[in-house]
Amino acid sequence: METRPFCRMIKGGREVLIFESLVEIAGYAVQEWQVAAETSIKKRGRFAAALSGGVTPVSLYRMLARRIRDDLWARTHIFLVDERFVSPDAKESNFRIIYDTLLNRIVIPMDHIHSIATDTKSPEDSAIRYEHDILSYFRTTGKFTPSFDLMILGMGADGHTASLFPGTEPVWESDRVAVAVYPSDTARKKRVSISLRVINYARRIIFLIAGAEKAEALCDVIENSGSTLPASRVSAGEGGVTFLVDEAASRLITRKNDLK
Ligand code: 6PG
Repeated sequence: METRPFCRMIKGGREVLIFESLVEIAGYAVQEWQVAAETSIKKRGRFAAALSGGVTPVSLYRMLARRIRDDLWARTHIFLVDERFVSPDAKESNFRIIYDTLLNRIVIPMDHIHSIATDTKSPEDSAIRYEHDILSYFRTTGKFTPSFDLMILGMGADGHTASLFPGTEPVWESDRVAVAVYPSDTARKKRVSISLRVINYARRIIFLIAGAEKAEALCDVIENSGSTLPASRVSAGEGGVTFLVDEAASRLITRKNDLK
């Protein structure tokens, strides 16, 4: 059965869809994934998706493993939006989350899985290696910006997305494809992230955002045209940016221009 939001709005050129639960968010995102995969495979013969870590997308990843057909996986390439500089079997590893909830449950060629190496000397080396991998997949040099078919993003309560943290702008605003990020909150791990430039070149961007602790940042990103939060810097590719949010996260958003 088709999953539908109970409220839909367009705010600052972005689509905001509100759902009753995270399971519904995941159900809707699976439908979007399927359309994006079929369209890309029809047009370009392959589908490149970049996935975030964190807790929110886990239901989506499990559902994708159950619902997406094998013939689509055979032509899908999975990239990571970002990674903590930890071993792939550490519990903080995004690769580990994505492997356990999705990759280990589907049939996909090994060379279609593009993880971010963390056995390098430093996050910088890791970013350089990842940049090469991305550029060689898209068969382009650094002068052209690679265009992912679909990017799944999350957002933290501080408004960060991917590993683009407030206060680290000079790093992720660079012309690079992938960058090493050292969050100022030292409790956070060093990271490697796809840069803002490349995120904003994705054909379609879907944010998954749940939880009351994100309500303030979400309201700022969606309603304040002068927002400086990293998530507000994400802009539309050809298929646009869509925010899939739960009721708790959406509680501060004004609903006067609901479309449904
Ligand atoms: C990560 C992410 C990060 C995440 C947000 C939200 O590596 O953790 O890429 O940007 O999407 O922190 O995380 P939650 O979904 O766990 O709230």
